Amino acid sequence: MDVRVVDHPLAKARLSTMRDARTDNAAFRAALRDLTLMLIYEATRDAPLVSAPLHTPIARTIGYRLANPPLLVPVLRAGLGMVDAAQALMPEAQMGFVGLARNEATLKPTPYMESLPESLEGRPVFVLDPMLATGGSMAHTIRLLTDRGATDVTAICVLAAPEGIAHLEQSGLPVRVITSSVDERLNDSAYIVPGLGDAGDRQFGAV
Ligand code: PRP
Ligand code: URA
Repeated sequence: MDVRVVDHPLAKARLSTMRDARTDNAAFRAALRDLTLMLIYEATRDAPLVSAPLHTPIARTIGYRLANPPLLVPVLRAGLGMVDAAQALMPEAQMGFVGLARNEATLKPTPYMESLPESLEGRPVFVLDPMLATGGSMAHTIRLLTDRGATDVTAICVLAAPEGIAHLEQSGLPVRVITSSVDERLNDSAYIVPGLGDAGDRQFGAV
């Protein structure tokens, strides 16, 4: 499985803001938005293009656009904070939605909503979720996508735990991971260490 770590200095700086426990909700959301721009930029590095002639005010030249823009699928709640940046870079991208809450006792994802196109054959999909911890939520989401025919899935995550990456690897699901850090480990509550805490609570407040 391809795991790409975006360790650009600007990504490291935004990630540090997100990790810092003193960062308030608004600043956390702003840093997540900026960092998502960088993750999407890297995730689309090899995206196929189509070209067409155009006129600048000066001359004729060739212009480009994405040949097959990905479906964007934020995993609610925490993935919502990545939508704005992803749409800013790919305004033409369509969206699906998956709502999951990790049961903190069993650590299994509890699904509470799903809104996805019926067929995903031939469509790349970007799953937006800042945290890949045990990998249970991401594996559940990818299965919803592969059940609809998706074969080209990219997980866009701010942080990944080695345990979550191993989970995805062992699942055999067709996914690559773009992240700004593979952290050390999970703690006894399956939180990422050093991590950044609860990504949903840090954006929107505790529920
Ligand atoms: C967080 C995070 C992931 C999940 C990761 O969401 O956004 O979806 O936990 O954990 P896992 O890899 O062990 O499954 P959470 O379930 O806390 O919900 P929230 O986004 O509503 O806060
Ligand atoms: N979900 C989070 O929001 N943070 C973690 O560290 C693990 C799961």
